[in-house]
Amino acid sequence: MTEAAIIDGKAFAAGLRERVGAAVASLNAAHGKVPGLAVVLVGEDPASEVYVRNKRKQTAECGMRSIEHKLSAETDQETLLKLIADLNADDGVDGILVQLPLPDHVDPQAVLDAIDPAKDVDGFHVINAGKLATGGDALVPCTPMGCLLMLKDRLGDLSGKNAVVVGRSNIVGKPMAALLTRESCTVTIAHSRTKDLPAVCRGADILVAAVGRPEMIKGDWIGEGAVVIDVGINRVEAPEKGLKEDGTPKTKLVGDVDFAGAAVNAGAITPVPGGVGPMTIACLLRNTLVAACRQAGVTPPAI
Ligand SMILES: NC(=O)c1ccc[n+]([C@@H]2O[C@H](COP(=O)([O-])OP(=O)(O)OC[C@H]3O[C@@H](n4cnc5c(N)ncnc54)[C@H](OP(=O)(O)O)[C@@H]3O)[C@@H](O)[C@H]2O)c1
Repeated sequence: MTEAAIIDGKAFAAGLRERVGAAVASLNAAHGKVPGLAVVLVGEDPASEVYVRNKRKQTAECGMRSIEHKLSAETDQETLLKLIADLNADDGVDGILVQLPLPDHVDPQAVLDAIDPAKDVDGFHVINAGKLATGGDALVPCTPMGCLLMLKDRLGDLSGKNAVVVGRSNIVGKPMAALLTRESCTVTIAHSRTKDLPAVCRGADILVAAVGRPEMIKGDWIGEGAVVIDVGINRVEAPEKGLKEDGTPKTKLVGDVDFAGAAVNAGAITPVPGGVGPMTIACLLRNTLVAACRQAGVTPPAI
């Protein structure tokens, strides 16, 4: 039996942000270029506002320009598309991120498709998804990129490893599988129709869980020594923490993996919170640097 090592995503993300900051300073010194990241927020979703505030702070800390557009929840799609067109044409903007979810009257795909693929730092544009799938120089979605960087840091060469990705969303599961394929893993994509998921998971050297179901993946689904990356962020009631002022139980965040159970067999595992989550914004900053370098005709640094 092993006792899993904890993969500290918070510390890894801090290191990555530092490397991005150093590369931004070099880009500015050598080419007079300061990367600019435009974030568009429509409406007043409290969770989105927290994300946007964190992005603004961390963008500035890396020495990049942060440009924010806060629009009312009533903004129509035409106005939003006009803003995207203006940001596409603005040489001071290297990356564009539209915070999701958008209000119901706006078609998110139409908005994402309007972003210049060269500035698509979320990597959600179909051109970037296609480039990732076909081996081109894509801007890669931030969350799976963060998972891959932690896996390579932990395991070095991933070639020949059996990787199981549970979840097939366009923003996590599919790009994660594409990245692992690019690293020459043997990749299985599991989903809600997969037969005998526990057995499929047990065969994994690398298990990435991106399901959105609290602690669904149990300890005895984990093969001896497997590296487990838990992407899930689920808020659940935590009666052990007591009650809130309104008399309802306090809550806590848990992943898609039963952490305590999985830690018995796993070689290494990411905690929730403090695992994959902090890597997502760090990879957004990395993508903004890459986008700025490419738009300036400079080879992006390998960080
Ligand atoms: N750390 C971060 O920064 C970050 C970023 C993004 C997302 N997340 C979290 O990651 C999780 C997944 O997000 P997502 O956007 O990829 O979710 P999603 O779009 O809802 O996709 C969930 C996937 O899980 C599969 N699934 C659902 N129930 C299953 C079951 N019982 N057995 C096997 N597979 C099952 C679904 O299969 P079908 O396709 O068959 O329906 C689907 O492919 C969520 O908890 C989310 O909050 C975290």
